[in-house]
Amino acid sequence: MGKTRKNILITGASSGLGEEMARRFAAKGRNLGLCARREGRLETLREELLAANPGISVAIRGLDVTDHDAVAAVFGELRDELGGLDRVVVNAGLGKGAKIGSGRAEANLATARTNFIGALSQCEAALEIFRAQKYGHLVLVSSISADRGLPGAKAVYSASKAGVAALGEALAAELAKTDIVVTTLLPGFIATDMSSKAGDSSALTATLDEGVSAMVSAIEKEPRRAALPGLKWQGIDVALRFLPNELTNRLV
Ligand SMILES: NC(=O)c1ccc[n+]([C@@H]2O[C@H](COP(=O)([O-])OP(=O)(O)OC[C@H]3O[C@@H](n4cnc5c(N)ncnc54)[C@H](OP(=O)(O)O)[C@@H]3O)[C@@H](O)[C@H]2O)c1
Repeated sequence: MGKTRKNILITGASSGLGEEMARRFAAKGRNLGLCARREGRLETLREELLAANPGISVAIRGLDVTDHDAVAAVFGELRDELGGLDRVVVNAGLGKGAKIGSGRAEANLATARTNFIGALSQCEAALEIFRAQKYGHLVLVSSISADRGLPGAKAVYSASKAGVAALGEALAAELAKTDIVVTTLLPGFIATDMSSKAGDSSALTATLDEGVSAMVSAIEKEPRRAALPGLKWQGIDVALRFLPNELTNRLV
């Protein structure tokens, strides 16, 4: 830590948390590499960011994170275009799901491929770059749902996010004595397209502003693991991990 992470790659930057993180980091004067499948939305965002922050560079690429070879190629191109990568935020994610065994496996498979295999492809590509340059900050966007398997349509989503959290923990341990830092974020409910489609409890849902402020501030501090936003979600994180099932069943 210490040195400013100047060049930041964010996946899933075409909406929600990724798009808003891009705005926040741009306002801090950072250069950005932004990826998602909806390239038109990235073009609009790029124009907005450059108009508001004329001193920065913003490079964009259409990318499907389930295409392993494309992830490596695009990360390499963005590294070259920006002149190095200091931080990669593995944020792209999908919230589709259906009860397992209900004949709608495709939604679950798409979520598993995007959230876990896609995150793994992104870690492979980012760490190849970081290992070569001997430094970097890898940020994995998991979810509070990683703490407990969730029933029904959210089962695969929560399992995929538990996989991402385990990957982050493993890499943080492996790289502890190097200048490659690994942070796993576990957000609670934050208002985006994904949380509204999932029908998450509105009483618990943080605004996009509150959620992304907490994410950006945690990312800049570079801890190993952070549940957020606020004390409420830190408390829910502890409750989900340590209270007995009889009590947590009411929360999930
Ligand atoms: N909002 C919450 O309450 C919450 C809580 C915990 C964790 N999270 C996690 O936060 C991350 C962002 O979610 P969000 O709430 O901001 O949802 P969102 O608004 O639906 O954004 C998801 C982003 O991921 C991208 N994406 C999806 N599939 C992709 C693929 N195959 N390849 C490349 N990009 C893909 C989407 O872009 P394209 O469709 O353009 O590709 C979009 O930019 C996700 O990993 C999510 O699981 C969200």
